[in-house]
Amino acid sequence: MTTFPRRYHITTFGCQMNKADSERMAGILEDMGFERSEDPNEANLILYNTCTIRDNAEQKVYSYLGRQAKRKHEEPDLTLVVAGCVAQQEGEALLRRVPELDLVMGPQHANRLQDLLEVVFDGNQLVATEPIHIVEDITKPRRDSSVTAWVNVIYGCNERCTYCVVPNVRGIEQSRTPEAIRAEMEQLGQQGYKEVTLLGQNIDAYGRDLAGSTESGRHQHTLTDLLYEVHDVPGIERIRFATSHPRYFTERLIRACQELPKVCEHFHIPFQSGDNDILKAMARGYTQEKYRRIIDKIREYMPDASISADAIVGFPGETEQQFENTLKLVADIGFDQLNTAAYSPRPGTPAALWENQVSEEAKSDRLQRLNHLVATKAAERSQRYWGRLEEVLVEDQNPKDPTQVMGRTRGNRLTFFTGDINELKGLVVPVQITEVRAFSLTGQPMFL
Ligand code: SAH
Ligand code: SF4
Ligand code: F3S
Repeated sequence: MTTFPRRYHITTFGCQMNKADSERMAGILEDMGFERSEDPNEANLILYNTCTIRDNAEQKVYSYLGRQAKRKHEEPDLTLVVAGCVAQQEGEALLRRVPELDLVMGPQHANRLQDLLEVVFDGNQLVATEPIHIVEDITKPRRDSSVTAWVNVIYGCNERCTYCVVPNVRGIEQSRTPEAIRAEMEQLGQQGYKEVTLLGQNIDAYGRDLAGSTESGRHQHTLTDLLYEVHDVPGIERIRFATSHPRYFTERLIRACQELPKVCEHFHIPFQSGDNDILKAMARGYTQEKYRRIIDKIREYMPDASISADAIVGFPGETEQQFENTLKLVADIGFDQLNTAAYSPRPGTPAALWENQVSEEAKSDRLQRLNHLVATKAAERSQRYWGRLEEVLVEDQNPKDPTQVMGRTRGNRLTFFTGDINELKGLVVPVQITEVRAFSLTGQPMFL
């Protein structure tokens, strides 16, 4: 065992799943008697929860690790842990590259952190990357916010998009039971949380792997069913969910969002490319026409719904013409927000081996052009908020101006207004919007 006081530090890279895993691992460490340290240099256990979605994400962790590995030579009591998606991808190879590491653990093992550390504290070096059934966590996560919370509903992904490393590192789909999800949400409601985001890499796959399909072959527990089952949890005022897959997105889900008052009118539905041949090469399983129909349908039910997405430029074989089809889709739809990325070849994915790779220059040129269009379109979309009364759930102080608080509209726009965080945190405040920017708003609180 290490000497007291035991302090831990966690740095988290990557997506919301990693953030949620980090919060659960922090909860486990605090249960074990560790205290949190924001400064890694004051911690005697350092955990990097890593991401490998693109090469630059992966490289980041090696530079962080290098520094701490050096420190370990002077402080042999330092425990170094690499968790998350790089850990899963590299496994043993990571130990060879950084022999100072004590523990390499894949995302499926997050809830087992205590057991794994006990083996480490007995003097072993450990790699935990074998696929397992994800155990329900019994420890309370240490959440970063006291207003909004992530709740995992399905782990893993069974899709095989040809560019994507996620199925390799996150494993097959594993849904949590509706009972476990509801119980977690009830506890959150009791603790004063106001907003829950239900999480899954492909959240529309929720329930497929749970037993009990009906005779008609339809699954009993779809995401839509889940929303109906959890929307009345006391205390929780807003429900969001991500990420949706156009291939499985249903009208039933849209209807549920319209019917259920707590479900926010915001959809995150990545399209990746606006060109049908590229979509086919990506193995996404839909066409750009189908994507447009989904958005039309959403707007038919909820004309004001906000729409965000992810897109990749420079996928192998993408021609200028095909890239322009992506521009066209973005111009036509007018996203409230779009996460864009240049294609990055990933180990163990089919597209990385193809010979028709696009040059780095073309990729960065396309990325710039797309980003420019995105900002213009988002600014246009923001205009509709001007002068309107929006419900803002207050999350925090504005870090740049302590006289202001910040929160989000139902459509997920970041909004600032003058107020005292001690009085307003966790409240839904009607705010009249007085200033609009591409990705954020400022307003005047309307206290009744
Ligand atoms: N499950 C989600 C997204 C998961 S990864 C979905 O199906 O859409 C998040 C985003 O990273 C993806 O939407 C994609 O736009 C981007 N991405 C994934 N692999 C990538 C790669 N190899 N190169 C560039 N971007 C990638
Ligand atoms: Fe990756 Fe595709 Fe799964 Fe999303 S749906 S995580 S892009 S394989
Ligand atoms: Fe990254 Fe893993 Fe998420 S690769 S994007 S942290 S699932």
